[in-house]
Amino acid sequence: MTENHETIDALQWEKRTFVPSEAFKKNSLVVGTHLYDEANVDYESFWARQASELVAWQKPWDTVCEWELPFSKWFVGGQLNVSYNCLDRHVLAGKGDKVAIHFEGEPGDTRAVTYAQLLDEVQKFANVLKGLGVQKGDRVNIYLPMIVEAAVAMLACARIGAAHSVVFGGFSSQALADRINDAEAKVLITADGGYRRGEVFPLKPQADEAVENTSTITSVVVVQRGNNPVEMKAGRDHWYHELMATADADCPAEPMDSEQLLFLLYTSGTTGKPKGIMHTTGGYLTHVTYTHKYVFDLNPEKDIYWCTADVGWITGHSYIVYGPLSNGATQVMYEGAPNFPGNDRMWQIIEKYKVTIFYTAPTAIRTFMKWGVEEPAKHDLSSLRLLGSVGEPINPEAWMWYHENIGGGNCPIVDTWWQTETGGIMISPLPGATTTKPGSATFPLPGIGAELLDDEGKHVEHGGGYLTLTHPWPGMLRGIWKDPERFKEAYWSRFEGSYFAGDGAKLDDDGYLWLLGRVDDVMNVSGHRISTTEVESALVSHPSVAEAAVVGANDATTGQAIIAYVTLVGGMEVDEQVLRNHVAGEIGAIAKPKTIYFTPELPKTRSGKIMRRLLRDVAEGRNLGDTTTLADASVVNELQKRASEAPSED
Ligand code: WTA
Repeated sequence: MTENHETIDALQWEKRTFVPSEAFKKNSLVVGTHLYDEANVDYESFWARQASELVAWQKPWDTVCEWELPFSKWFVGGQLNVSYNCLDRHVLAGKGDKVAIHFEGEPGDTRAVTYAQLLDEVQKFANVLKGLGVQKGDRVNIYLPMIVEAAVAMLACARIGAAHSVVFGGFSSQALADRINDAEAKVLITADGGYRRGEVFPLKPQADEAVENTSTITSVVVVQRGNNPVEMKAGRDHWYHELMATADADCPAEPMDSEQLLFLLYTSGTTGKPKGIMHTTGGYLTHVTYTHKYVFDLNPEKDIYWCTADVGWITGHSYIVYGPLSNGATQVMYEGAPNFPGNDRMWQIIEKYKVTIFYTAPTAIRTFMKWGVEEPAKHDLSSLRLLGSVGEPINPEAWMWYHENIGGGNCPIVDTWWQTETGGIMISPLPGATTTKPGSATFPLPGIGAELLDDEGKHVEHGGGYLTLTHPWPGMLRGIWKDPERFKEAYWSRFEGSYFAGDGAKLDDDGYLWLLGRVDDVMNVSGHRISTTEVESALVSHPSVAEAAVVGANDATTGQAIIAYVTLVGGMEVDEQVLRNHVAGEIGAIAKPKTIYFTPELPKTRSGKIMRRLLRDVAEGRNLGDTTTLADASVVNELQKRASEAPSED
């Protein structure tokens, strides 16, 4: 028997496997192990080959990778332009008339934007930015709804070497002001408002409030979208369409150094102020182009790709804007809510555009489960050939539901693990090559090194441990804006020489990786370290449960006690005791929740991650701290009320 260094108890083992079908393999880009074999020999040469095949360089690099732990530089000495790679090269190759983005507005308005049109708009807007005094090296803030202009603004920044900092449109004016101040941005690009669930949500008033609390913004550009009334401050505020009407249509893409800052994206740490994650040009573009091509098995001539993320998150940056456009893909971009006007909007869009590749989040999938199979059943989803998942561990039951009800039982699922910090996908199946297991992200991609470590930093062969990344990769963050010490402390201090991602994971007998969530989500119950993810998956595997959030609350007897918050499938009812016994049956009595609260909704961040910290506070009867990143604060108030009323049962 191998020595066991397990640090998190691995309780649940999934046995189902799915082999890529012959039909899928026939047209798939990768069916064997050759990419893995090549990368295993020498990962730097492997990445160098990807960079030269997938990206156009204006000047070749001198050094593939400079690695001074924890700082890496990639393709040093090389020069390229990201917007040239995403636009010009496709137009020059005769693909100018190909649709880059099928935009679907929430009210039902549509716009098909070709590569030539997108290039035209980006050149003009790059000139607009220059006219507002933006220069190479400056920062530009973007606070927009999910509209084509968001991609235009990002690409225009990339064209002239200004770094963008996109702030999700659902964030408050304070969050926006903090991010503008940290980045010292010169220009803010926003909109009057955008559509969400049939209504216009105003953005400009928030932007105005934010700009009041900043000192660096000299101009605000406003896209007209919601047609809601706004105030325009003379000299500072400009309408996008007015500036564009007179902008010069010609703005050549400037060569950028490979390590030129491409963007900042702020991610909230567990404590303290948000971190400005830095991504640069050559390595990032290589990583997202490569992963978008191979993980999604992209055929740019045939596929219609749709990623449901918002451009305000890293998934929107890497897999709506940069990866797909660099690969010359045709994609769908949807502005609004998944349940407007009905709970079948997503499926209606897939049918309408004949989407072939669909990439969404487990939280969305579990919501679709709650709405019932009759919603997707109303539509012809037979165009789909590949499904993806990102953002959280996907419970095996949610995976199976996705596979059967959306994929019609014959689409491979790529469960992609990565982070804002990693820039692109790190752990994922290659759909034509990897036998998948529901709930496992399977293996690190070719070119990526990952291993599990125990508390002492020893290698874990089997069972649970801390997920670490063992060598640099092109898309890795280059640091935290203005705070190199925090970068070292946050990612490189726990284990000597390794990047610690903050996630727990387990390895099964076949070497498959199973993500177990953030390690702060590991509970300690009578000395057993149990991952919240496993208990949640056990709960979700009961037919009545759509979604579950599990937290550990202080307990005088057991150290921590397992508290579960459960949302039921529409119309179903179930007894608490039945669910507790179900968990005991699935993974063992030790994992039985002490108390289960039923709730119509779970509190989530605006990017859809369950706010376990808040639920822990509720379970332990604490006053709630900052709830500003919460999507719907009323959910928590309701839970808090019930927690103070309900006696806990054992
Ligand atoms: C979690 C999103 C399990 C994980 C791209 C990670 C996942 C954090 C998965 C990063 C997955 C993301 N399986 N967990 N497939 N994908 N996560 O920065 O905890 O918004 O550390 O980036 O999401 O979230 P972020």
